[in-house]
Amino acid sequence: MFAVAEKIEAERKIHAVETSEIHKKNFGQYFTPYAIAEFMASLFPVADGNLNILDPGAGIGILSCALLNRIKKENWNNSSIKLSAYDIDTEVLGKLTQNLIEQKKNFTDFDFKIYNADFLEKTSFEYSFGKNEEFTHVIMNPPYKKILSKSSAREFCRCFGLETVNLYSAFVGAAIAQLKEKGCLVAIIPRSFCNGLYYKPFREFILKNCSIKQIHLFESRKDAFKDESVLQENIIILLQKGTAQRDVKISYSKGANFENLTEKYYDFKKIVNPLDKEKYINIPLSSCLPSEDFFNCQFVSLKEIGISVSTGAVVDFRAKSFIRKNPDENTVPLLYPMHFKNYRIDWPKESKKPNAIVFADETKSMFVPAGNYVVVKRFSTKEEKKRIVASLITADDIAASSLAFENHLNVFHFEKKGLQKELALGLIVWLNTTFLDNQFRKFSGHTQVNATDLRNLPFPSKEKLIELGKKLEKYDGWNQELFDSIAKERLDEKSAAANF
Ligand SMILES: C[S@@+](CC[C@H](N)C(=O)[O-])C[C@H]1O[C@@H](n2cnc3c(N)ncnc32)[C@H](O)[C@@H]1O
Repeated sequence: MFAVAEKIEAERKIHAVETSEIHKKNFGQYFTPYAIAEFMASLFPVADGNLNILDPGAGIGILSCALLNRIKKENWNNSSIKLSAYDIDTEVLGKLTQNLIEQKKNFTDFDFKIYNADFLEKTSFEYSFGKNEEFTHVIMNPPYKKILSKSSAREFCRCFGLETVNLYSAFVGAAIAQLKEKGCLVAIIPRSFCNGLYYKPFREFILKNCSIKQIHLFESRKDAFKDESVLQENIIILLQKGTAQRDVKISYSKGANFENLTEKYYDFKKIVNPLDKEKYINIPLSSCLPSEDFFNCQFVSLKEIGISVSTGAVVDFRAKSFIRKNPDENTVPLLYPMHFKNYRIDWPKESKKPNAIVFADETKSMFVPAGNYVVVKRFSTKEEKKRIVASLITADDIAASSLAFENHLNVFHFEKKGLQKELALGLIVWLNTTFLDNQFRKFSGHTQVNATDLRNLPFPSKEKLIELGKKLEKYDGWNQELFDSIAKERLDEKSAAANF
């Protein structure tokens, strides 16, 4: 390690323990371990000529120093290097300045500027007046914080033509707006932008302006920032502005020391399905189970099968006065996640949670007629092996004419009515396969499963699902092996899920 690298890593460790959690949270301030910074810097292609580097939300300058150290070590042929570092926190400015001054001795023509300013505000202002910089390199670990639709941060982003919901995506958008054509950006960011409705404009913004060159995935969820209480799963992404999209390199490491690094190139169609209107970014898992390449059937969307999935209509705190612990003749069964076990319904249940909701004018729009439904919990626990666990409720399970589903459940239905029994059973097989869980994990690092995510998964045709259902009907004890083997037997003709 360079002397400056050791010093800066020691400063980071001190910051991690000595800075209050409130301060870190307010500023979205979690510094990057030097080994990660070094890996991020290593992703840029070698460049000669004049370099114009940006480090937005620079902290004590770890990322800038890692990039400068690499340039020095590899002796790049640069006539001049300019660097702009932004941070709103006055407390980091002293160390940031010192660390960048130390870099001066390594280069004949290196200059830097530190802006103690809001990166989004300053750059959106300059951008609006056509006075923005053109950066050749951006290296960033942006702050993470939700931004409300009426906030100034949202307004600033609109100047770049971006509508977004978090500071991290706002920072990446603002940096892309200021990248020179063919300039590269390396960022460590949560992977939450890869799926979900709210990040769709951000995904579109990336894909419109840049090509994705590389994505790095840490296999251990928390390893990247293990000194800090950072819970998001992070990825590292390399983007290049204004260049044609080619195959994408996906690299994997167990943790933040990058031992046992593996990498593989993927056709871009495997990363963003060209037919996917939501533009989900799929990151293939490193330990691709054989099942990933197993199904050779034609996949379709849920819509093509004619089925919908919605979140349960009952938000219990809003319907408080109608909710009852026990059912009686004037109530409808109210189903919570706790009512589903071993893929089936277990209702009513002795628990703190209620079992019923009163039938009344105010509540009846929340009910569906009794029938066959498939439910998937919206929140799995971290310990649960699978993210997607589907359970069945049939018309015969409960003696009631209507049902109510609580909001923590996703419900598969046909026009707000029950499904044909074999089709519901087929969904139970398919949704519970290991294959589908892996598909989900490619675009989601969350334990949360939303209806939009479920709509976006690949499904076999209606006929194939019915075949799966007919097969499952013959068995009583359902388990993981059974679901996987039925799907394999009925769907696998040979290789590759080539359609997805
Ligand atoms: C996640 S930390 C990363 C720091 C550093 N880049 C690193 O990797 O170690 C994000 C930094 O952005 C700064 N920051 C937060 N909001 C900002 C804003 N609106 N403009 C500029 N800097 C900001 C914080 O003070 C914090 O130091």
